[in-house]
Amino acid sequence: IPDTCSCAVESSADDTCAAVVTSSRQILSNVVIKQNDLHEGYGGIHPMVAIQAHQRNMPIAVKRALREANVDIRKDIDGIAFTRGPGIGGCLSVGSNAAKTLAASLDLPVVGVHHMQAHALTPLLTSWPNPPKFPFLTLLVSGGHTLLLLAKSLNSFRILATTPDESIGRSFDKVSRMLGLPWTARGPGAALEQFCAQPREGEVPELPPYPRPFKGQLAFSYSSLHSYVERYIDSKGGLENIDLPARLALARGFQTAAVAQLEEKVLLAFQWCSENNVQVGDVVVSGGVASNTYLRERLAACLTKLDISNPISLNFPPPALCTDNAVMIAWASMHRFLARDYDDYTIDLLAKWNI
Ligand code: KG4
Ligand code: ZN
Repeated sequence: IPDTCSCAVESSADDTCAAVVTSSRQILSNVVIKQNDLHEGYGGIHPMVAIQAHQRNMPIAVKRALREANVDIRKDIDGIAFTRGPGIGGCLSVGSNAAKTLAASLDLPVVGVHHMQAHALTPLLTSWPNPPKFPFLTLLVSGGHTLLLLAKSLNSFRILATTPDESIGRSFDKVSRMLGLPWTARGPGAALEQFCAQPREGEVPELPPYPRPFKGQLAFSYSSLHSYVERYIDSKGGLENIDLPARLALARGFQTAAVAQLEEKVLLAFQWCSENNVQVGDVVVSGGVASNTYLRERLAACLTKLDISNPISLNFPPPALCTDNAVMIAWASMHRFLARDYDDYTIDLLAKWNI
C-alpha cells in the first residue's frame, strides 16, 4: 500500500508553518517562518502584525515545504490539513484559506486539526517504535495554553487541570520582559532560562516566597507569579535600582515557582488517576515551554516520588517539534485521511475550541 501523504499548514499564533508527512512517519519537510522580531516591541503577539506576516509568508512556506519534500502536489499529496483552532482568529484564517483553496484547486480533501491535540499526539510520531500508550498524561505548556490532559485515544481527551488566568509561556515572556532580557532567536522564555542558568555572581539575595496558587487543587495560575515580579520591581522604584544578583534571584525564584506548579499538579493527576482506576504509564510534555531544561530535570525527579509499581516513562518530543510546527498538524490529520473522514470545504474555524 503506498503511503498516505499529508501536506499541512499552521498559522494559529506567530509562526507560519508548512510541512509534508507520510503515514509511515516520514517527515518529508518542516518549514517554520518565525515572526519574533516583529512582535518584540509589543510585549506579545500583535494580531494585525501577525496576520499580515502570515499573509506574506504562507505562500513562501508552502512552496518551500513542497520543494524540500520533493513531492509533486498533483500526484503525491493525498490531502491538505490545517489548524482549525484554537488560536488568533485572523491568523487561523490565513492557514485555513490557504489550505482550502489549495485543496479545492487540486480536488483534494481537507482536514481541520485541533492545535493542542496535535501537540499532544506528536510523541506518537516522534517516539516510534516506542510511543506512549493510551491512556497517557500530557502536559501542554506553551504561550497559548497550560493544560494537563488525559489522552484516552486519538480523538478523546479529558482536561485534568488548566489555568483560569494566564499561560505559563506568557508569564515567562512577561517576566523576561520585565527583567529587561534581550529576546533571543528562541524567544523570551528561552532567554529567561538562559539568564537563570548563568553562573552565580556574588551573593544571590533571599526574596519573600513566591505564591503557590491552587495548592492541593488540579488548577494552575500564572498571573500571580509575574505580578509578584512586577510588585517587587515597583517596590524598588524600577529595574534600574535592582542589581544583577537580585535580578537573578527574581528570575530563578520565578522559574522555580512556575515549574513547582507543574510538579505538584502532575502528582495530583496521578492521584486522580489512581482514584479513578486509570492506569497511566507515560507522561508526555510538549509545547514551547517543554524545551526548558530545568523543567525537564524537575519533572523527571518528581516522578520518582510516585508510589506506584511500574516505572513511569517521561516523554519529551524533540524541541523543534515541541514549538509550533505543521508536522504535528499533518500527523494529527493522518488517521482521518486514512479513514477518509474529511471535512467539508465550508468548515468554519474555531478560535476558541474545547479539546
Ligand atoms: O508552543 P509554542 O511555540 O507556541 C504556542 O503555541 O504558544 O510556545 C511558545 C512559548 C513562549 O511563551 C515561549 O517563551 C515559551 O514557549 N518558551 C519557553 C522556552 N522556550 C520557549 N519558556 C521557558 N523556557 C524555555 N526554554
Ligand atoms: Zn502551540
